[in-house]
Amino acid sequence: MEKLIEAVKKSFEKKFSRQPLLLASPGRINLIGEHTDYNEGFVLPGATDRAVIFAVAPREDRRCRFYALDFDQDYNTDLDHLGHSEWRWPDYLQGVLDQFLRAGYALKGLDLAFGGNVPIGGGMSSSAAVEGGLAFAVNHLFSLNLDLLSLALLAQRAENEFVGLRCGIMDMYANLHGRPGKVMKIDCRHLRHEYFPFDRPELRLIISDTGVRRELASSEYNVRRRQCEQGVRILSRYYPEVKSLRDVSLDMLEELRREFDPVVWKRCAYVVRENERVDLACRDLLRHDFVSFGQRMNESHCGLRDEYEVSSPELNWLVEAALSVPGVLGSRMMGAGFGGCTISLAEAGAVEEFKSRVSAVYRRRTGREPAIHAVRIETGTRILGS
Ligand code: GLA
Repeated sequence: MEKLIEAVKKSFEKKFSRQPLLLASPGRINLIGEHTDYNEGFVLPGATDRAVIFAVAPREDRRCRFYALDFDQDYNTDLDHLGHSEWRWPDYLQGVLDQFLRAGYALKGLDLAFGGNVPIGGGMSSSAAVEGGLAFAVNHLFSLNLDLLSLALLAQRAENEFVGLRCGIMDMYANLHGRPGKVMKIDCRHLRHEYFPFDRPELRLIISDTGVRRELASSEYNVRRRQCEQGVRILSRYYPEVKSLRDVSLDMLEELRREFDPVVWKRCAYVVRENERVDLACRDLLRHDFVSFGQRMNESHCGLRDEYEVSSPELNWLVEAALSVPGVLGSRMMGAGFGGCTISLAEAGAVEEFKSRVSAVYRRRTGREPAIHAVRIETGTRILGS
C-alpha cells in the first residue's frame, strides 16, 4: 500500500506541480446477504485493505483535471460541461460532482490523480470505491459537513443516474462506514447498521477472482430488480402492507405461488431466504460459531446459483474447488455475479493449500490463472494526510 500511495502522490505532483490531499477508499467484501440491498433487506459487508488512493486538490476556477494511473489516461473537463466520456472511469468521478451540483453545493474545480489495487470490475466494488472516495474528498475539501450516510446516498445516486446501474446502497455504505476487524449488518430499509467483530486470528477471508468481466452483469442486474418489483406487486394485491420483499415471508409466497410466474417466484423466494440467512449468520457470529456461519455462506451460494441464477460456471468451479480444501468453512460468489469473484472463509493454516489447489482446478477448467488473495477488514474511506 505504501508504494501505491507514493506512486499516486508522485504522479499528482508531476502532473499538477502542487501538493495534494491523500485519501484511501477501500473495496468492500460482503460475507452474506447478496441482492438483498435493493429489496430493503439485510447485508453483511466490510471495507478491506484493498483500496483506491486519491491525490486531490481544489482549484480556484471550475476546471477539473483527472489522471487515472491504472490506465495512464488524462481526462479534462469543467463543472459546467460534465458529460459521458468514451471511457468508464471519468463517469464515476463526474457522476459524483454532478450530484453535488444538483444538490446545490457551490463547488470549485479539482486536480485529481488516483490509482488502486481493488480489482477493476472484479466484484469488490471498485466503482463504489471511486465514487465514495471522491464524495468524501469533496465534502472535506469544500467543508460541506455532510455525514457519511448522506455521502453514501449521493454516491449511489451518481451510479444510478449518471453511470446508469440501478445498484443498491451496500457498496457505498460499506466503503464509507468500514471499521477495522468489523463487519456491519446494514438494514437497507432504515439505513442503519450494527457492527459485528470479525477478526479471529485463526481465520482468513480469501478472495478468488475469476478474471471474467461480463457486461451481462449490469443488464441482468436490472432484470433481477424488475422481477423482484413484479413479485412485490403481486404480493401487495393480497397483503397491502407489503412494500418490498423485506415484508414477505415464505408462507406468504407459498400461499400465492399460483399467482406467480415460476421464475419470479424463485427470485422472490431466494431474497426472502437470504434475508433470513443474514439474520442467522449474525447470531452465529455472536456465538463464535464459524462452522455454522460457513454453511450459511454455502447455502447463500446455492441460492444465488439455483434460484437467483446470477452465478456462472467459473464462479461455481471456484466455490467447488474451495470447498474441497480441508479447513475451508464456507465459500460463495460475491457481488452482482456473472463474473467477478468468490469469497471463502478458511482456517489460517489452509491458505497455502487453498491457493495451490484452487488455482490448479481453475487452470485445468479454463486455462487461466485465478487471482487469489487473503483480505483484511479495514477502516472505510479516510484521509491519509497531505
Ligand atoms: C452490486 C451492487 C450492490 C448489490 C450487489 C449484490 O455490488 O452494487 O448494490 O446489489 O451487487 O448484492
